[in-house]
Amino acid sequence: MESKAVPHKDDKDKLIKYFSVEIDNMLRWLASFGAEPDGGVTRLLYSEAWKKAQQALYGKMKQFGLTPEFDDVGNLFGRLQGTEVRPKAILTGSHIDTVKNGGRYDGAFGIVAAIIALRYLKDKYGVPKRTLEAVSLCEEEGSRFPVTYWGSGSMTGHHDFGKITSLKDDQGIYFQKAMATAGFGPHTHRSSRRSDIGAFIELHVEQGMVLERTGGTIGIVNAIVGQKRFTFEVTGQANHAGTTPMPWRKDAMNGASAMIQFLYETAGMRGEPLVATVGKLEAEPNIANVIPGRVTFTADIRHPDQAALDDFCRVVSIRFREIAQERGLELQTSMWMDEQPVCMHKGLSERIRSVSEACGIPCVQMVSGAGHDAQMFQPCFPTALIFVPSRLGISHSPDEYTAPEDLAAGTVVLTKMLYLLGYQEEDV
Ligand code: HGY
Ligand code: MN
Ligand code: MN
Repeated sequence: MESKAVPHKDDKDKLIKYFSVEIDNMLRWLASFGAEPDGGVTRLLYSEAWKKAQQALYGKMKQFGLTPEFDDVGNLFGRLQGTEVRPKAILTGSHIDTVKNGGRYDGAFGIVAAIIALRYLKDKYGVPKRTLEAVSLCEEEGSRFPVTYWGSGSMTGHHDFGKITSLKDDQGIYFQKAMATAGFGPHTHRSSRRSDIGAFIELHVEQGMVLERTGGTIGIVNAIVGQKRFTFEVTGQANHAGTTPMPWRKDAMNGASAMIQFLYETAGMRGEPLVATVGKLEAEPNIANVIPGRVTFTADIRHPDQAALDDFCRVVSIRFREIAQERGLELQTSMWMDEQPVCMHKGLSERIRSVSEACGIPCVQMVSGAGHDAQMFQPCFPTALIFVPSRLGISHSPDEYTAPEDLAAGTVVLTKMLYLLGYQEEDV
């Protein structure tokens, strides 16, 4: 992918044209790492596709004149060193991992926009006063192991290596083994823990329909919902599907399906903005003529209000225990994600709004129903999250799509923010 001559002026239309070509090309290139036959992308933490993508981005960062560096969990940084010895760098980027058979924009867009924006600024304005860093965060989704935000959470101290010792993926591979095989872990690279970051700006596809419906090109996120994820294990007794009378069964599927039905009915009664999803369900032994002895399923529950989220999860847990008891089943519950709702930094978000308006790019304030690494960073340093539209609101799917000019508009706003913070040294 050849690099285009950098437009000589900062005017928006030329920038939009320049960025839309560069970004779309690079997203296609990045999507080749973990490409699925139907156009989706699967890049799970510490997998071969993940490792190849991070190594390729390392080379790209170098080619773009950034100083690339891994940390000990596999976060990849591309630094544009500032002239002033300012203690706090400005960081921008997103996550490189994906869900299974996901889209080519989720996470990847924030990384690609970050390194293309830094290259543009370096080529046009030279060395910044304050250090600017692009980051490809190693993991956010929780798609392979039951942990989320492993990259950003390791940087903020939300996670540490002690947290993952017992974790395994669906193939029974231990987290530590996968991490070590990919070349990461304690003392392999510099520590992931960072206390030298002044602000973080994440650019991400909306993954919803608000922008498309309101005609906004840019979404400025004022809050990210709280989110809890659980795994429920219902244990009964495997038995013969033909010779076991219904009243004598300890049918784990009967119990699990009653629980799942209760969860969805209760979520329906609570109404928006609560959302609840059973995304994963496994029956053992998973044979047509055997009563399932064990059923394991997940629940992903989100709400912008902590008390409402807690109350819904409390009601569901109580009822699940009752259902298990009524059917002579055992229930094991593990909550492996519990993130509070987080408001983004007002000052930074306000600046993004004024930059968007100055560029004549329509922007709307909104809540994010999706979790993002920005949720980890905001409690530690000023953080903002910028959305661009997702066609038909589709995401976590091969049909995920954002028009190149919308990708470019988001990148123009990000670039102008990085210029203000890195070259004008405006305070956050
Ligand atoms: O699931 C989410 O909210 C995000 O895509 N990780
Ligand atoms: Mn995602
Ligand atoms: Mn994402």
